[in-house]
This record gives sequence, structure tokens and C-alpha cells, in this order.
Amino acid sequence: MDTKSTGLTTQHAAFIEDAQAHGELFIRQPYELYSEENQETWRRLYERMKPRWEKYANEKFLEGVLNLALDPDGIPRLEDINKFLSPLSGFKAKAVSGYIPAYLFFDCLRNREFPTTITIRDGESLDYLPEPDIFHDVAGHVPMHTDRQFSDVLVRFGEAAKAAAEHAAGIGDPQDRLRSVESIIKAMARFFWFTVEFGLMRGKNGSVKVYGSGLLSSFGEIEYCIESPEVQRYPFQLEWVVNQYFEIDHYQPLLFVVDSFDHLFSQVDELEKWMVSGKLNNVSPGEPAVNENDLKSFLHITSD
Ligand SMILES: [Fe+2]
Repeated sequence: MDTKSTGLTTQHAAFIEDAQAHGELFIRQPYELYSEENQETWRRLYERMKPRWEKYANEKFLEGVLNLALDPDGIPRLEDINKFLSPLSGFKAKAVSGYIPAYLFFDCLRNREFPTTITIRDGESLDYLPEPDIFHDVAGHVPMHTDRQFSDVLVRFGEAAKAAAEHAAGIGDPQDRLRSVESIIKAMARFFWFTVEFGLMRGKNGSVKVYGSGLLSSFGEIEYCIESPEVQRYPFQLEWVVNQYFEIDHYQPLLFVVDSFDHLFSQVDELEKWMVSGKLNNVSPGEPAVNENDLKSFLHITSD
């Protein structure tokens, strides 16, 4: 079988390659292209993850899985997901062909749209993949978007990105502007990473629960992040988070715990205040790298 032309497997999807070659960021979900192997991968991922969600995920995520009527037996159609999702929070999952420049990504959030990958990982490598796939995006992220408070955090994040672009536009010297934008994007990416992707939340009776989607879509790490004595878990501190580099290719040694989604929302507010006052113009260097498209996306957009 020619794996280049059939299936929507990460790294092997002719439909995606074609869209990327034509510069199409936003696409449809060509459901008919999923192979039986792709469907089987979804079933295996879902089946082994479910008991771990029940044990480690925060309750809003578990409610979200129920409210979306996620199908354990087949890859979801985004239009079906959106029928359940939109009435709850106004959010919708929007199919993308891959990487979206940073500003555009945040601006989608501001408009209650979540850029969603439609390919699925290879059945041979269920455990680790560096890029998102539909299991990470739809099973890891989208259930959280059913919660009003959490979805408001994402929108607030999008607004902060807009404030960042406006802040950058107000810096006269081009060198200073570039350096500030790079620093602000780094700070925002770190904040996003340690919350939306890898966040922990204080639960009932002193327990700690998972709400970050990188953890919610990882069979190994969802257990490791809660059970392992090797993981450092600290109360969320903005000044630390924006200066803390991270690496994506191994389990995280350091995670931050928020008290609630209200708490998280207030921290995004604070992030924007710091940004506007220039406090994020020179954060600690290091990962993540900010690429040229990310920089350009922030510099070209100054208002609606
Ligand atoms: Fe993600």
C-alpha cells in the first residue's frame, strides 16, 4: 500500500503536504482519507488513556469528555465536536494543515477558534511525538474548552497577544522592537507551556490534578507528573514561569500548580500588565526558540 497517498498519518499525509505546498493554513477535515490503521490508532490511544484520565484529570476535563460525546471507537469529526462544543463556550475546533505562526494562533483563540491538527500519529509510536496530532488536540485540548472559565482564559490570552503586537508597534527603534517582540513571544510561549500544555491544579483535599493538554494526551506522563517523586511541583509564580526555559523531548522535571481557573485568568491579566509596562522586553534567554514567522506575525499586525 502506498502510505503517501492513503491515510492521514503524521508525517505521511499527501493531503496535508499538498495544502502546505499551496500555503493553505486552514483546511477541511477530509474524513474519508483516514485509513483503518488510523482509526485503530485512535481506539488504542483512547482505550489505554481512559482509566488514567479518571484517576488524574481534573473534573472539568472529565465533564468535557462526556459533554463532547467523544467516541472511543473512531476519530471524531470536527463538525460533530463543534455541535456539542459551541453551545457550551462559543469555541470551535478549526482544522489546520500544521504549524500556525504565533500571532495567528493566539488570535484564533481570541476569536474562540482552536487551530486543530487533523492527522494522527503512526500506530508504531503511540507514546511520543514532538508535534501535535488529533489525539493531542481533540482528546487533550478540546474537552477543556467546554468549560466557560477555562475558555475565557484562552480568549484572554489572545487579547494579551493583541496587546503585545500593539506594544511592539509603539517601540520606535527597529532593533529594540525586534528584541522586545522576541522576548515577549518567549514569555508568552513559556506561560502557555506551563499552564495550557503542562499545567497542574490544586484539587480537593490537597490533591493535585492535571489540566494541561500535553499531560492529558500522554499515557506515560499523566501518571509520572503526579506520582513521581522526581517531579518538582511548585505554586504558579509568574516571574519564574516567564523566565523558565523548557525542553519538549522528555518528561518535564518542573511543573507549576494553579489554585483554580480564576487564578489562572488573573495571571494572564498580570502577564498583559507586565507586557504593556515593558517588563517582558528582556526575559531570560533560552528555549523556546522564536522563529522568523512568529516574529513577523507579531510585527505585521497592529490592530483589527
Ligand atoms: Fe497542545
